[in-house]
Amino acid sequence: MKILITGATGLIGKELTNLLLKENHIIHYLTTSKLKIQNRENYFGFYWNPKEGKIDENCLDGVDAIIHLAGASISNRWTNSYKQELIESRLLSTNLLFHLVKKNPKQVKHFISASGTAIYPDSNSAIYDETASEIDHSFLGNLVVKWEESADQFNLLNIKVAKMRTGVVFSENGGALPEMIKPIKMFAGSGFGTGKQLQTWIHINDIARLYYFTLQNEIEGVINAVAPNPISNQELTRCIAKHLHRPLFLPNVSKMVMKLILGEMHILLFNNKNIIPRRALELGFQFEYPSADLALSNLIK
Ligand SMILES: NC(=O)c1ccc[n+]([C@@H]2O[C@H](COP(=O)([O-])OP(=O)(O)OC[C@H]3O[C@@H](n4cnc5c(N)ncnc54)[C@H](OP(=O)(O)O)[C@@H]3O)[C@@H](O)[C@H]2O)c1
Repeated sequence: MKILITGATGLIGKELTNLLLKENHIIHYLTTSKLKIQNRENYFGFYWNPKEGKIDENCLDGVDAIIHLAGASISNRWTNSYKQELIESRLLSTNLLFHLVKKNPKQVKHFISASGTAIYPDSNSAIYDETASEIDHSFLGNLVVKWEESADQFNLLNIKVAKMRTGVVFSENGGALPEMIKPIKMFAGSGFGTGKQLQTWIHINDIARLYYFTLQNEIEGVINAVAPNPISNQELTRCIAKHLHRPLFLPNVSKMVMKLILGEMHILLFNNKNIIPRRALELGFQFEYPSADLALSNLIK
């Protein structure tokens, strides 16, 4: 199969690309950085600039499916201008792809888009599977709604659309985990707030495998791309400390302090969300790392 990937140079994209190349697929990828363009066996880079509406149209030659991962990172401070960047990097890029695909009908069969668990509201009682219709009306929740709506445009072209509502990806090579590890390693680790808030997560190998599973099985609709066992903030902090062989003796950091440090983004640490990957499990996907303990024992060495 020939697959066009955006954001292929990022955390998930690199892992997914390696998996697809191992399975003998051909990768076309779009990058906003000319320096990242490479052309080697089965791996071909193309330039785009969604803000300026520029895209190398050759990227679509012979492509059967698109995996859209590109988007500015949510881990920078959410100033008003950066919020705009978070929105535009997702919506303008999806729209640009849509207009290109529209000019080449009946070729692409499947559009798989990254999405986020931020769409679900904070709740002490709800268990969210893919049938949940509640929406979190925060900045990030609203962003995910718009992002998914832009992906759904591809349905108009009779293309199957899948939306991967992804939890925090655990990897040793980037993302949130190395940031969680740092203070604990330096004997300054602690939980946040009551520590009872549930956090959803997924191991990097499993998220790449789940994208591939979705592609192979031509799955459509929403997929909760999270491990089957969410973990409380306190347990997660303890589990990381255990694998790092570090003690935890500091009190939990309050919401007020984290708000001062991180601004609006602090909610990511305090939201309580119990999200389960019902569809992935029902469709037969097997998680290699269903528990955080197993994932962390693999990633922290
Ligand atoms: N990692 C997680 O924990 C997590 C959780 C939930 C959802 N997600 C979503 O899954 C997707 C992939 O995540 P990731 O962790 O692999 O992200 P990442 O490492 O930050 O990589 C994203 C890629 O997007 C491209 N990009 C960055 N800024 C852009 C912009 N302004 N316009 C267009 N492209 C831009 C970059 O590729 P080029 O430099 O090659 O252009 C970058 O490599 C993202 O959309 C992310 O929001 C990730």
